Amino acid sequence: MPLYHTLKALNSARSSYKGNALGVVPTMGALHQGHLSLIAKATRESEVVWVTIFVNPTQFDKKDDLDKYPESLVADVAAIYEIGADIHIFAPTATEMYPEGLATRAQTLDGLDNLMEGADRPGHFDGVITIVAKLFKALQPHQAYFGEKDFQQLQVIKKWATEQHIPTNIVPCPIVRETNGLAMSSRNAQLSPKQRDEAGFIYKAMLHCKNNCLDKAAVYTAIKESLEAHPNFDLLYVLCVEEDSLKEVQELATANKPRLFVAASIAGVRLIDNIALK
Ligand code: PAJ
Repeated sequence: MPLYHTLKALNSARSSYKGNALGVVPTMGALHQGHLSLIAKATRESEVVWVTIFVNPTQFDKKDDLDKYPESLVADVAAIYEIGADIHIFAPTATEMYPEGLATRAQTLDGLDNLMEGADRPGHFDGVITIVAKLFKALQPHQAYFGEKDFQQLQVIKKWATEQHIPTNIVPCPIVRETNGLAMSSRNAQLSPKQRDEAGFIYKAMLHCKNNCLDKAAVYTAIKESLEAHPNFDLLYVLCVEEDSLKEVQELATANKPRLFVAASIAGVRLIDNIALK
């Protein structure tokens, strides 16, 4: 299996491909079915696929969050191999990606990064864009796959790619969920089986809003009440925004592609989810 740890090795492998269908799936590893669905889609749509596995330190605003982040390279490589033995894997060290130290570049993102994850995690999206820019520069992908699980990240990356004339098609991929509805996440491994089971209520509450709530006040009340019924969980934010601008909707009925975003935490583990309301 082609596994590379250095940019030098990556460059030499990358330079041998002259076609126009190279797909990249950037990840931070600890792969689950959500990640694997992106890789499978990339494989169907690309001639050559690269998966990157790198826990990017600059997108973590809290050191203990970074320290706790799960890593499982051997299992990740095996899971990718199951999808395709010829998939290239790039798993660099932090010094390989940040030889000059952990500097990030501030991005102009038209306010897309001012709310939700951006507001709660200062510098997070600057860190995301910094690493995605480095990976894109090295791999020059024709298409790159990102999950709607991190919908704000997807929009931020699309915005950056458009503004910077990045010649890569950003492909959105649907959210993969556990059987109880909980959006799959590498962080779910930090939950106890009981907490993980209980956490399914978040998606159920969001579905309830989609099917029953006629205005955003009703949505906010329903989400707050469902969180109150689960006292181990703290609500970090609930917001109805228009999908493209990520601005809060005025009237749900007339909003353009309204989407509900919820973030909650349990025992220090951050869970995020979102759902289209129409
Ligand atoms: P990570 O959290 O590992 O996620 C990698 C990709 O998998 C992201 O595009 C994410 O949205 C997608 N993904 C995660 N869980 C998913 C699920 N349940 N369903 C569908 N897609 C899912 O996102 C990152 O890493 C990083 O910020 C990264 C882009 C790699 C930059 O460091």
